[in-house]
Amino acid sequence: MSFQSPLRRNRNVHPARMGARTSSYWSDLTREHGFESLEIEGRLPAELNGTLYRAGPALSQRFGSPYGHVFEGDGAISAFRIGDGKVAGAHRLLRSAGYVEEERAGRALFQTAVSWPRQLANNLRGRFKNTGNTAVLEWHDGLYALMENAKPTAFDRELETIGETSFGGVIQSAFSAHPHSVPARRTTYNHGLRFGRTTSFAVYALPWEGAARCMVEVPLEHPVMLHDFMATRDHLVFLVSPMQLVMWRAVLSIGGFSDLFQWNPDAGTEVIVVPIDEPAKVRRFKVDPFFQIHFAAGFDEPDAVSVDLMAYPDSSALATNVADIDKPPICGEVTRVRIPHGSDEISKQRLCDIGLEFGQTDRRVAGERNRHLYGLSVNENMNFAIAHIDFETGKEDVFWFPDGEFTSETLFAPRSPEAEEGDGYLVGLAYNQASHTSRLIVLDAQHVGDGPIAQARLDHHIPADFHGTWVPNQVGHA
Ligand SMILES: [Fe+2]
Repeated sequence: MSFQSPLRRNRNVHPARMGARTSSYWSDLTREHGFESLEIEGRLPAELNGTLYRAGPALSQRFGSPYGHVFEGDGAISAFRIGDGKVAGAHRLLRSAGYVEEERAGRALFQTAVSWPRQLANNLRGRFKNTGNTAVLEWHDGLYALMENAKPTAFDRELETIGETSFGGVIQSAFSAHPHSVPARRTTYNHGLRFGRTTSFAVYALPWEGAARCMVEVPLEHPVMLHDFMATRDHLVFLVSPMQLVMWRAVLSIGGFSDLFQWNPDAGTEVIVVPIDEPAKVRRFKVDPFFQIHFAAGFDEPDAVSVDLMAYPDSSALATNVADIDKPPICGEVTRVRIPHGSDEISKQRLCDIGLEFGQTDRRVAGERNRHLYGLSVNENMNFAIAHIDFETGKEDVFWFPDGEFTSETLFAPRSPEAEEGDGYLVGLAYNQASHTSRLIVLDAQHVGDGPIAQARLDHHIPADFHGTWVPNQVGHA
């Protein structure tokens, strides 16, 4: 995730100053390159054909002026073309308009890399850098880097930046970093917050064949953080936690993360359900407060809509996670929230023992009831793991990385288009602190606990990344 304008913070007070951290995982990109062949170790499945795209912040400073937080970093895309038993990898910074402007000026111009008066002036003039450092969307054969609070940034298959886009004027303000596809509708959905005198969010539909459109604009009581949502076959579900933005602090760039947001439990969590076929008939009601950063899945039942998410009692876990990148991140409880159609009494059910984040499913069943869930876990000793939960058998299959190896979100790639749900591979990246290098890893999604069955090492590291996408059958571009 990423927090940019208006969610900036003061470089003088933020606790996670870049210079103070020790984790090399978040350190700056050291080498950009186009696609290069990588040596494969292990057994790379012959049927695995596609490209993994990943996005993350890759610069901690501009011209020696440090950002206040890693989330501000200029985005980079890494990509791995897999097919015919070969792997080629590429890694490039996004040349955002702000980045290019800074290159021309020869100095930092944006975010907390500049003085407080300059930050204030930028805020008042609505100037900020669209870093695209959070996620990747593929739509209509185009590729887009996404961030929390800005428009998509198009890039080509060689990872060269094309530039910001509004999809033909449809995206008026922001386009979040969490689009969700519903294969049954051959449509991808997303939302975008709009801050101003009032706060609202727009709901967007991106048909796989056809033009983007805004489905509805939903007003909110307060400016909030609204990072993710979930799409089912018939509904779009937003759970608006009472993590409210203190707007004057954001505008004035005063304070750290915990100062910019205020947990206001009295406001409760607002459940907002948008029926896809009748988006104007928004249903909304309040429930006791809880917090989530990410959703993992969702599906419709005859009398309810259910969403699976990584739940927290409040926003303190997020505040902890973003305030100190050297501490083990806190994972959430995988929770199914059931929202009956005829009642405001939601129910919650914990789905597995292990705490997870970055929950993922086989995206071919997105919007439908899923059997398999995959996610990242971290223990108190900063050991990272990839977990597979089989809801049918109840089995939790976990691979723990050794000390000093970190990983991020892994994505499911099916063995074939016709394969059963869960029959395929997990593809992702792992970082080794001792060698300061990253590697592509491939796991058998049905035997996650066995660890990677194949890997391809880079001669450099990929800075810690957030989200990405798996695009099948793109090896023809290699
Ligand atoms: Fe996210």
